[in-house]
Amino acid sequence: MTSNPVLRFNLWLSQARKAGEPLPETCVVATVDARNRPAVRYMLFKSADENGWVFYTNTKSRKGSELAANPHVSMAFYWDTTGKQIRVDGRAARVADSEADAYWAVRPRGSQLAAAVSEQSAVLKSRTDLLRAYRKLEQSHHGSEVPRPAHWSGFRIRPRQIEFWTREEPRLHRRELFVRTKDGWEKRLLQP
Ligand SMILES: Cc1cc2nc3c(=O)[nH]c(=O)nc-3n(C[C@H](O)[C@H](O)[C@H](O)COP(=O)(O)O)c2cc1C
Repeated sequence: MTSNPVLRFNLWLSQARKAGEPLPETCVVATVDARNRPAVRYMLFKSADENGWVFYTNTKSRKGSELAANPHVSMAFYWDTTGKQIRVDGRAARVADSEADAYWAVRPRGSQLAAAVSEQSAVLKSRTDLLRAYRKLEQSHHGSEVPRPAHWSGFRIRPRQIEFWTREEPRLHRRELFVRTKDGWEKRLLQP
């Protein structure tokens, strides 16, 4: 088993995919508001490498505003098919516009239109208004590309620590914590 937590994360993710986990890229992302009240929501994470864990969203959403004021994030993945959980704690920073553009370009057109029309997390007067706005945008961009709105982008979480949890019987689960140091990662075992 590799002692590099980024490689290990990607290995566990590919094992969950092979095992038939539904939506293996699903994770929970926690932020806090200005009064330190937490909020969590499920997200589809995009990728993880040495630079961090990336997800995409509306930067003016509740999570986006909370991250602008406090960049600390806690994420958790759980794969029931393989009995594994991974927690990632760290700081969020916006991805470069060029990176967001590249991902936007490969998104399905319907997702682009939906992201462009939605003021995510704002109060909506009526669902009909939203559907009408969607159709209007669809018509106005008929035959042309949908440009990425400036408020749709990614956040990259640079981990401070990453914990790998493996289900083990009789409930003596295995917990391995990787803490970032100046030169790399220090590994500790935790009580289950
Ligand atoms: C499985 C799943 C995946 C989701 N993936 C995303 C995502 O990648 N980006 C996103 O903005 N919202 C995603 N959502 C919606 C979020 O859970 C949430 O409703 C939305 O981002 C607004 O959150 P906020 O008000 O805390 O900012 C997903 C929801 C589910 C159930």
